[in-house]
Amino acid sequence: MLFSILSVFLLAPSLLDAIPTFSRAAPEIRQIFTFPNNTFIENIRVRFNGELLLTSMSVPTLFEIDPTASTPNASIVYTFPNATGLAGITETVPDTFAIVSATWDLVNTRAILGTIVVWTINLGSTPPIVHRIANVTNSTSFNGIASIPESPNLILAADSAIGAIWRVDLLTGLYGIAFSDPLFTPISTAQGSNLGINGLKIKDGYLHFTDSAQGIYGRVEIDSLGNKIGAVDLIANITASVATGGVYDDFALDRMGRAWIATHPEYVVEVELNGSQEVIANETLLLNPTSAAFGRGSTAEEKTLYVANGGLFAGDDLVDEGVVAVDVSCFG
Ligand SMILES: *[C@@H]1O[C@H](CO)[C@@H](O)[C@H](O)[C@H]1NC(C)=O
Ligand SMILES: *[C@@H]1O[C@H](CO)[C@@H](O)[C@H](O)[C@H]1NC(C)=O
Ligand SMILES: *[C@@H]1O[C@H](CO)[C@@H](O)[C@H](O)[C@H]1NC(C)=O
Ligand SMILES: *[C@@H]1O[C@H](CO)[C@@H](O)[C@H](O)[C@H]1NC(C)=O
Ligand SMILES: *[C@@H]1O[C@H](CO)[C@@H](O)[C@H](O)[C@H]1NC(C)=O
Ligand SMILES: *[C@@H]1O[C@H](CO)[C@@H](O)[C@H](O)[C@H]1NC(C)=O
Ligand SMILES: *[C@@H]1O[C@H](CO)[C@@H](O)[C@H](O)[C@H]1NC(C)=O
Ligand SMILES: *[C@@H]1O[C@H](CO)[C@@H](O)[C@H](O)[C@H]1NC(C)=O
Repeated sequence: MLFSILSVFLLAPSLLDAIPTFSRAAPEIRQIFTFPNNTFIENIRVRFNGELLLTSMSVPTLFEIDPTASTPNASIVYTFPNATGLAGITETVPDTFAIVSATWDLVNTRAILGTIVVWTINLGSTPPIVHRIANVTNSTSFNGIASIPESPNLILAADSAIGAIWRVDLLTGLYGIAFSDPLFTPISTAQGSNLGINGLKIKDGYLHFTDSAQGIYGRVEIDSLGNKIGAVDLIANITASVATGGVYDDFALDRMGRAWIATHPEYVVEVELNGSQEVIANETLLLNPTSAAFGRGSTAEEKTLYVANGGLFAGDDLVDEGVVAVDVSCFG
């Protein structure tokens, strides 16, 4: 998210010098698409047909990109009304996605209270069928969201401001806090420390999460309604020895349960369930990565990690935000 761009930019220019050692050949990284200046790219999901869906906190437009096209281009899927940008997105049933819009205070990475709206968008129809599900009156942060596989009418949302998991029923529009934990909270309200729980993914009955301010990745067992049924386990934390100046953002899980964490300012960190971490670093192609998702539609695509880049500050502009493809087949 944006805070880490700001904090790295303002506080730690020398952090870019560190190039971690890498125990295998560095994966090939390809630029897929670069958005116009000042289009902060926040989240990514992939449709069954391999098309990438990207959200931006700077514009309330859902974009779609075919990464296999000879010259990939971003087309507009839908522009949501009365909002300045989008945040989390998750697939609920095949080709239908839940998505969050809001009027954002980007400097503080908070939504203006009362502006968060949860929508569903069914891409199986042309034009897509969009439903306004819930107007969230009492949160300033729905960051990563995740559909519960056993209950496709339920999503969970990470509240980075108060360190809580919200649950939204997409059928009734009812919403409330499912649970909170000290490992979900931010550190303070100061820029750079004010984003707690950030990315969310659910696999095999566990909710996996990152907390950006605390620099941790962990998981907690949940039931089919999204209730917590075990202790929150810390799997890994980001330290200087892992990736200098690294700040975990959102992530993708692979079939083996490994997490691929988009990590500012120039990393993707691969984390095993036993806590071992391996770093992919590339200061010219990984530009404040905010989220990641595996391709779909072919074996090669399933070994391709698409990483959304938040972009870099250049004067008053944010530049080079977009999406890159990382070939992770060398990881097996
Ligand atoms: C960054 O990625 C490009 C393309 O894969 C590669 O040519 C370059 O060597 C990489 N840079 C570093 C520092 O790994
Ligand atoms: C890319 O898509 C946009 C619409 O999102 C369109 O305006 C533009 O012409 C397209 N560019 C190319 C090169 O096709
Ligand atoms: C737009 O959002 C404002 C609050 O930000 C709200 O007062 C207004 O009712 C909304 N309008 C529509 C059409 O949703
Ligand atoms: C959400 O707000 C919009 C705009 O004010 C309104 O039209 C809609 O009925 C509200 N929906 C719910 C579920 O409250
Ligand atoms: C938030 O508002 C909803 C709708 O009014 C309510 O059901 C829920 O209990 C509230 N939650 C909190 C934590 O305030
Ligand atoms: C971070 O991980 C290291 C290595 O596993 C551990 O020694 C350290 O105590 C952890 N720090 C926190 C804050 O959990
Ligand atoms: C974690 O598991 C991987 C393989 O799954 C293994 O290579 C690595 O040595 C293990 N690390 C630790 C700290 O046990
Ligand atoms: C994007 O921002 C950079 C840095 O301010 C500027 O040099 C460049 O001209 C901008 N590009 C466009 C198309 O405005």
